[in-house]
Amino acid sequence: MSVLGDSEIKFMATIKQINHVAVVVDDMDKSLAFWRDALGLQMTELRDVPAERSRIAFLPAGEAEVELVLPTNDDSGIAKYLAKRGPGMHHICLEVDDIEGMLSQLRTKGIHLINEEPRMAPDGKRYAFVHPESTGGVLVELYQI
Ligand code: CO
Repeated sequence: MSVLGDSEIKFMATIKQINHVAVVVDDMDKSLAFWRDALGLQMTELRDVPAERSRIAFLPAGEAEVELVLPTNDDSGIAKYLAKRGPGMHHICLEVDDIEGMLSQLRTKGIHLINEEPRMAPDGKRYAFVHPESTGGVLVELYQI
């Protein structure tokens, strides 16, 4: 038996899976020595992403992916993050079936959103970030593919 009213069920967005985990790195070769060479994950792509001012290595792990993100200039958000906090965990990305529904669901619960509206990636995916102050210190990205 559901405790939710019909109107709430209609707007309930669902998290489907972890899409990727992003790790910010200061030395790509050194990071690959662990993630690819020691763990044995396969690197399917190492790509410059000018929009993110980063070079990103993609290493699938099951249905999800580890992304190693190396800033390629000094004034992007991720470069500042690296300068301030050093290399390490940057964000976890959750795939959602309805990103707008999820954002309004979070808003009604008083969750601090970095992006009030979904943004469009060059590949057509829509994404938005949730502020770490509402998540227990983890930057959370939401993705709708
Ligand atoms: Co991401």
